[in-house]
Amino acid sequence: MIAPRRPLKFRERVMPALRTLEVDLGERSYPIFIGDGLLGRAGLLDDYIHGRQLMVVSNETVAPLYMERLLAGLPDDLQVAQVVLPDGERYKTLQVLDQVYTALLEHRFDRGCTLLALGGGVVGDMTGFAAASYQRGVNFIQVPTTLLSQVDSSVGGKTGVNHPLGKNMIGAFHQPQAVIADTGVLDTLPDRELSAGMAEVIKYGLINDPGFFAWLEAHIDGLMSRDKTLLAEAIERSCADKAAIVAADEREAGQRALLNLGHTFGHAIETGMGYGAWLHGEAVGAGMAMAAEMSRRLGWLDDSDCERITRLLHKAGLPAAPPPEIDSERFLELMAVDKKVMAGRLRLVLLKGIGGARVTDDFSSDTLRASLDAFRS
Ligand code: NAD
Ligand code: GLY
Repeated sequence: MIAPRRPLKFRERVMPALRTLEVDLGERSYPIFIGDGLLGRAGLLDDYIHGRQLMVVSNETVAPLYMERLLAGLPDDLQVAQVVLPDGERYKTLQVLDQVYTALLEHRFDRGCTLLALGGGVVGDMTGFAAASYQRGVNFIQVPTTLLSQVDSSVGGKTGVNHPLGKNMIGAFHQPQAVIADTGVLDTLPDRELSAGMAEVIKYGLINDPGFFAWLEAHIDGLMSRDKTLLAEAIERSCADKAAIVAADEREAGQRALLNLGHTFGHAIETGMGYGAWLHGEAVGAGMAMAAEMSRRLGWLDDSDCERITRLLHKAGLPAAPPPEIDSERFLELMAVDKKVMAGRLRLVLLKGIGGARVTDDFSSDTLRASLDAFRS
């Protein structure tokens, strides 16, 4: 657990059961609250809503489930408005984002307003980007409702939308005021989405936390059967691992790129298959298996560790291989549109053992090609 550095606010003091972490970014530091039943707790959000205007952004699936509960916990004197977006990765576009700007303008929201994202990573990324850009930047709060968004996308301030030619290519860094992760809302999450979130959880173990990876191996069955205590533990550990990396390298000048383990392969799958066909977490799962295979071929990862990774992905209900529809040639083409490409040279996150992730361009194109081909045989 990362110890809070600033004096605890009222809500943090009166809710001892709450797991609280801090993302330490100086003046822009913010808390992450994790707990069962947080949504709708009166007063929880008060310290983080700036101004008297609040725009809640959600989608057609999450709003009917949780909007009312969220609104019940808000102070009475707020001007609250809502935008409910269509559900799905394919709607994570500039065109759909325009609905948020229009709602903000129609309701005459000023620069002191706050936006609140109630939903998974798609809603969170879009709301964050709206907050980063509306009137050159307003405050926002993340209320993530998927496992993936609770362990990854709501933390760290990456916001944005997709472009038909590349995933997350339009965006900004914009940190939230607070992240509220209610583990209770995971009850309604479909199994496939739970697995997708588990991919990002496994990622933290692989990057630099081998003890956590071993803990996941021991507890994966309980996690997949939604044991609340285990899930809260996994969310807290994941957020702590991510918060430490973000605090050290907020704008990805260096080590934050490690958080993209499996993502260069994964983004190629998402773009190549059409946004939404494979879930982001599923693509990251397959991408991590591909990164592991390439690391093994470079002699960086033992056969047995490579097998441990594949086994854990399978137990988490994740694919450990890319879709047959994308051949190696197409993969190389898609991977060339990646934010880690520098001076025309592809850089990948690979593993020097479990817990030893490295960003590297130290591989031959033959090794990359052979690793892609390995999944075709
Ligand atoms: P998502 O937002 O599409 O949510 C998945 C599905 O679950 C959706 O259909 C959603 O409506 C539904 N849902 C959400 N909460 C629910 C609940 N409690 N009960 C029932 N259904 C619920 O997908 P996601 O996996 O949360 O996020 C993926 C997105 O996050 C991708 O666009 C990815 O690029 C982005 N991402 C961003 C970062 C970042 O750092 N900003 C990191 C990782 C991923
Ligand atoms: N999910 C990658 C990052 O936050 O940097």
